Amino acid sequence: MRRSLVVGNWKMNGSRDKTRALLGEILAGLGQLANVDVGVCPPYVHLPDASELLKGSSVLLGSQNVADQDEGAFTGEISAPMLLELGCALAIVGHSERRMVYGESSALVAARYAKAIQHGLVPILCIGETLEERESDRTFEVIGEQLDAVLNSSGVASLTKAVIAYEPVWAIGTGKTASTEQAQEVHAWIRAKIAKLDASVAEKIQILYGGSVKGDNAAALFSMPDIDGGLIGGASLDANSFLKICHSA
Ligand code: PGA
Repeated sequence: MRRSLVVGNWKMNGSRDKTRALLGEILAGLGQLANVDVGVCPPYVHLPDASELLKGSSVLLGSQNVADQDEGAFTGEISAPMLLELGCALAIVGHSERRMVYGESSALVAARYAKAIQHGLVPILCIGETLEERESDRTFEVIGEQLDAVLNSSGVASLTKAVIAYEPVWAIGTGKTASTEQAQEVHAWIRAKIAKLDASVAEKIQILYGGSVKGDNAAALFSMPDIDGGLIGGASLDANSFLKICHSA
């Protein structure tokens, strides 16, 4: 059976004080969870504080992106070795806000993914369609291309060291969650696509759902056979909501 994973994507929110307070509340309320891993991805500048606070706990630390290079003249980028030094275990790559607001191509996302894999940082590869793409029946074409960019450059075996997050762009931060059936349909499609290349990798890969997951819809989403947890934005900034989601997994 696959373990579940719930990861908070804090995006560009908080402050040093808020990071300490939020993590304190999460650690106090988490308790013992069977078969569920929990992670948080604070902004880069708050990783050192978070790392300190999470020492000795089971909560995984993650970054919101990772450079496609190891070091050098790449202003504004943070490399996998730097993140590992701070105790990061996870790195989100290809979030739709990176793809759409900052123009990251699938090729760049694949290069970031490859660097994470190379250094032993687990990439959480985000894929998902826009509303326009869904309404023009292009959902599977779009997420197929996003997946292929990574499969063609890093190979299917790399997925044994990665996590996929299906995040329909129209559901992110909008309050419009995909229905359990809509989400399950895409998760099953992703798993079947991987299974065509390697059935055992497909069986093991954790596929998270992201997009307006809240305390009151998490349990239904997580009960679907191909949904192995969630990537949580807005609701991860409130300890009670995040803890409720973690306990639903
Ligand atoms: P949301 O964001 O939960 O606020 O919709 C999810 C995400 O962007 O990962």
